[in-house]
Amino acid sequence: MDQGSISPHVLIFPFPIQGNINSMLKLAELLCLADIQVTFLNCHYPHRRLLSYSNIQARFSRYPGFRFETISDGLPMEHPRTAEQFLDIVDGVKTTTAPLFMEMMISWCRSASDTRSPLTCIIADGLMSFAIDVANEVGLPVIIFRPISACSFWAYFSLPQLIEAGEVPFRGGDMDRLVASVPGMEGFLRRRHLPSSGRVNDVAYPGLQHLMKIFRQAQRAHSLVINTFDDLEGPVLSQIRDHYPRTYAIGPLHAHLKSKLASETSTSQSSNSFRKEDKSCIPWLDRQPPKSVIYVSFGSLAIITKDELGEFWHGLVNSGNRFLWVIRPDALVGKDEERQTPAELLEGTKDRGYVVGWAPQEEVLKHPAVGGFLTHGGWNSTLESIVEGLPMICWPYFADQQINSRFVSHVWKLGMDMKDSCDRVTVEKMVRDLMVEKRDEFMKAADTLATLAKKCVGDGGSSSCNLNSLIEDIRLLST
Ligand code: UDX
Repeated sequence: MDQGSISPHVLIFPFPIQGNINSMLKLAELLCLADIQVTFLNCHYPHRRLLSYSNIQARFSRYPGFRFETISDGLPMEHPRTAEQFLDIVDGVKTTTAPLFMEMMISWCRSASDTRSPLTCIIADGLMSFAIDVANEVGLPVIIFRPISACSFWAYFSLPQLIEAGEVPFRGGDMDRLVASVPGMEGFLRRRHLPSSGRVNDVAYPGLQHLMKIFRQAQRAHSLVINTFDDLEGPVLSQIRDHYPRTYAIGPLHAHLKSKLASETSTSQSSNSFRKEDKSCIPWLDRQPPKSVIYVSFGSLAIITKDELGEFWHGLVNSGNRFLWVIRPDALVGKDEERQTPAELLEGTKDRGYVVGWAPQEEVLKHPAVGGFLTHGGWNSTLESIVEGLPMICWPYFADQQINSRFVSHVWKLGMDMKDSCDRVTVEKMVRDLMVEKRDEFMKAADTLATLAKKCVGDGGSSSCNLNSLIEDIRLLST
């Protein structure tokens, strides 16, 4: 160790939802592999669920420099925490977690501990941007992590220009109107693809104001880490780097971690689920022909009405294709007694379909029987699909999912965007197109991107080099 330097010790602080925690745990493990100490600060709710439903404790027990700490997000344990109540999570974090975090950091950084070495850096989720003020207060450098695509990051970053040009907010109207204020996306980005917080009447809408504040604050951080890769989003990343010069694209993180662990004998699945995975779908998949099954899942937050569920079911069955469908019990809109997947739907899926409440998704996507993904376009799901070379149909729900879906269909040519509709005829046609009629067309792009995704996390690949630079930076910040 250089004279005057201390051992790097990073605090990783995710926003308390599945997708964000999943990718930040992968980052944590990558840093542990580089001999960096990591404290992972998790909110109580996801933490309890992680301990119950994943193998997280066993996996991380091999890293002596790793520890979990927990903090409140201000919401009761029984809070539903779906997309419908997303702003409750944002408010809880703002009003409860932020002040607690300030107290915690002041106490940790100003009093010596026998059991904990001093922190040298904070890596905070962009949605926890209050961490920048806290880090300043206690004299620690802060790095912002975004588990979203560069294209969505760039659209969010462009919100002030979109507002100034009168392109946001919008409620209703012509959703297909092209927008001109997201540089580099002028010819193909439409109103419907913009961040869903723009779908409001008033610029003072708290969700919109909060988003703009987050992006302003992030510019004060030491650097920015994004879970994407240069071969996928190079042009957008170079625009972002004009504003955030130290931007590290180190994704896809799950593939990056797999590549670093590849030489190890351990083959244990790295599940970070905070729901119980129904692994009975794996033997079911084992019995299906290669590439014959479309996997259907709308992530951890999206909700669905019974009518929409019925349209998907008819569309899937009428397509004649096999399907594995995740229907989370909390995804159904309605009162408690209505939140049951209709029995007739489950009965009717017996021949060619299989329904679970939560799947071991990474394992499912790489199963030889799976040939396509009907997804909400959440960023983790999109990257997981890209790595496995699977074409996609996107039915975006909210947030960044609309723009991800646009890039999947229009820019990366990996599949189709179902936009806001999900009638049975469209579902049937798109599933047939994806799995049969237009398969060759989509598979060309899917194969190319899967190869590039794997290459970038290998030795000398762009994400691997960027991770090395990030690690070097973290070490320098500790001197
Ligand atoms: C949220 C936002 O919705 C999304 O737009 C944003 O990009 C990240 O945060 P979420 O709905 O959780 O994402 O979707 P996604 O990003 O795809 O993450 C879901 C994660 O849960 C994936 O890593 C996926 O592998 C996992 N998952 C999902 C399972 O393990 N099992 C399942 O049955 C479904």
